[in-house]
Amino acid sequence: MDTAASASTSAPQAETGQRSGAAAPLRMTTVSAHYFGGASSDRDHDLRVDIIENIEEDYGMFVWPCSVILAEYVWQQRSRFTGSRIVELGAGTSLPGLVAAKVGADVTLTDIAHNTEVLNNIRQVCGLNNVNCTVLGLTWGEWDEPIFDLHPDVILGADVLYDSASKILVYSLVLKYD
Ligand SMILES: C[S@@+](CC[C@H](N)C(=O)[O-])C[C@H]1O[C@@H](n2cnc3c(N)ncnc32)[C@H](O)[C@@H]1O
Repeated sequence: MDTAASASTSAPQAETGQRSGAAAPLRMTTVSAHYFGGASSDRDHDLRVDIIENIEEDYGMFVWPCSVILAEYVWQQRSRFTGSRIVELGAGTSLPGLVAAKVGADVTLTDIAHNTEVLNNIRQVCGLNNVNCTVLGLTWGEWDEPIFDLHPDVILGADVLYDSASKILVYSLVLKYD
């Protein structure tokens, strides 16, 4: 029987730097490990996904609780994801999409187009977990033609309906794919 996911987090590493004589902002970077299957522990699991998180005020740089639940759903339903085309909206640290990629889905991970820090972090976590996902800037409401060529079988979104303006944009995008 499948069991719930669990996670552990390494001690945060403070990163500081000097730029043009001024102190760069303090960043707390950590790598959290997420376990699926088996006893979902570091000793007994079928799948491990590592996520690079930065403890700062950017929504897309740390794992939100919804994402842990959605990732577990993907794991539990993995037979439905294997071989499917998946698009994750507002992916942030991308835990659900990475689980989908690990079980054999063709995954496109998206987040705000101008937020290069989040998009670069997504690329880094893909490398860290040895998965080959497409990473795409996709800002809700600013839809370029290429996103309509994706033809997803499943659209994932964890904690993306948190304000009413976003809700309308996300729903209308999902309807366009329908
Ligand atoms: C609450 S976070 C959730 C992140 C991730 N899905 C999770 O659950 O850990 C919301 C995510 O939506 C993204 N986002 C916010 N507004 C957006 C927009 N207008 N277009 C695309 N992505 C957006 C943020 O960058 C962030 O990654």
